[in-house]
Amino acid sequence: DTVQWDPEETGKSGYDHFMLKEIHEQPRALRQCLRGRVDEMAGTVDIEDLADLSPSGVQFVACGTSYHAALYGAQLFRDAGIPAQAFLASEYATATPPTGEALVVGVTQSGETADTLSALRAARKRGARTMAVTNVVGSTAARECDHAFYIRAGPEIGVAATKTFSSQLTALNLLALGMTNTQETRETITALRELPGNVQRILDESNAEEVAETYENSDAYFFIGRGYQFPVALEGALKMKEITYKHAEGFASGELKHGPLALVTQNTPVFAVVTGDGEQARKTLGNVKEVEARDAPVVAITDGQSEVERYADHVLELPETHPRAAAVLANTHLQLVSYHVASLLGRNIDKPRNLAKSVTVE
Ligand code: G6P
Repeated sequence: DTVQWDPEETGKSGYDHFMLKEIHEQPRALRQCLRGRVDEMAGTVDIEDLADLSPSGVQFVACGTSYHAALYGAQLFRDAGIPAQAFLASEYATATPPTGEALVVGVTQSGETADTLSALRAARKRGARTMAVTNVVGSTAARECDHAFYIRAGPEIGVAATKTFSSQLTALNLLALGMTNTQETRETITALRELPGNVQRILDESNAEEVAETYENSDAYFFIGRGYQFPVALEGALKMKEITYKHAEGFASGELKHGPLALVTQNTPVFAVVTGDGEQARKTLGNVKEVEARDAPVVAITDGQSEVERYADHVLELPETHPRAAAVLANTHLQLVSYHVASLLGRNIDKPRNLAKSVTVE
């Protein structure tokens, strides 16, 4: 007797799709990313190879989901007092050339994206030091750059990036902490240590499926966030587009009133990421009220510290943590919402139409 098995199906370890499997692999991926890189007793990040890097400025180049990670990374460096900017790799030609001590960082899961490789090559030609933040050892980006920093997410099969995005955010925190030393270092390290367990809690407890069932037939989906949650809003929308083929957009919370509000109706749920109870939360709360006043459904992704729940039709709960870690957790809920909407609509989740895992043409 022979047993029939399909290696692809076996590879999914019982999950319906690679995407769902990879979403669930995130706690392990993040533990791998952190392993051996953080000295918690000393409250420091120790990464050999980075110790002597103290760039005068950082330019990030990336595409797609990795660009959202790059936006987040640039903010980490700016918060540590180092000028930093994120560029779409395909638009890097318009950037001010990097100066002497600048570091140009390519964020690329595969290490093979043509646009990103091309931007890194241009930076090198201009005399900048380059670094690849990548998942693939021996990839072109890793080989061509002066430095390679590995995110250690493990192989990702689903075309839509999930665990590699979370690992990129985590790795970028390590990178920023390894090259700078700020008051927030210890706090961030604690939040990073708690991150894998907190992601697991979201995976175990998220009501994303119920939210997906409620809104599977919406006309469009909008995502808003401020600060570290702005790249999360962009990524939430990109994931939704990629795997559901539905219209979705991510906005900086404050921008909603400058145009996109005209699109908001009873049939366009707005996902608002609101963490903490500070100035940023207060302002985003104001933006949420504008949405609610137009009768659009509000899904709040929140730690409950602000009043946003009062204006929300659904809540996707976050634990109280540092906003940098909250970004990873909020994104986990949004990955699940997109996954379940796509699943209800019967989409080809692991291989969405027209898309490739790695794009090797400019
Ligand atoms: C493709 C994929 C995206 C990915 C982008 C950048 O377009 O479909 O999911 O974010 O490439 O990939 P990279 O390997 O450079 O991170």
